[in-house]
Amino acid sequence: MIAIACDHGGLSLKNSVVTWLKEWDYQVQDFGVHSNTSVDYPDYAVLVGKAVVSGECSCGILICGTGIGMAISANKVAGVRAANVENIYSARMFREHNNGNVLCLGARITGIEIAKEIVKSYLSTEFSGGRHERRVNKMMAIENRA
Ligand code: RB5
Repeated sequence: MIAIACDHGGLSLKNSVVTWLKEWDYQVQDFGVHSNTSVDYPDYAVLVGKAVVSGECSCGILICGTGIGMAISANKVAGVRAANVENIYSARMFREHNNGNVLCLGARITGIEIAKEIVKSYLSTEFSGGRHERRVNKMMAIENRA
């Protein structure tokens, strides 16, 4: 199950991503939004972040105008590793090296075809573990040090 949400700036791209995910046979939990009414992106980032960390969803996708606000907000949920990804190489590395669990996209930045390739690349890549696992563990340990 993939968790997805957006703010008003990401609605059109989110609807496209939901369509692609279903075409690719993924199950999708869509946390909204469903209209262009202006909302606050942290309210949606937290829904997806919690769904991923709880194990209810295996990963999440968040979309706002730039992807930045969603990424910052999602990373405040303990256990989330979110990044704003703007190219295909980063999408692959985000999973392979960082074991990223919440992919963020900027609907006003990234064109629809690149966004599609980013999502495809992220979902078809696996975490490579090994030395990267040590680094990811160190990253996550920072959360408990504050
Ligand atoms: C909303 O106008 C905009 O600030 C939001 O979509 C996002 O880009 C924030 O990071």
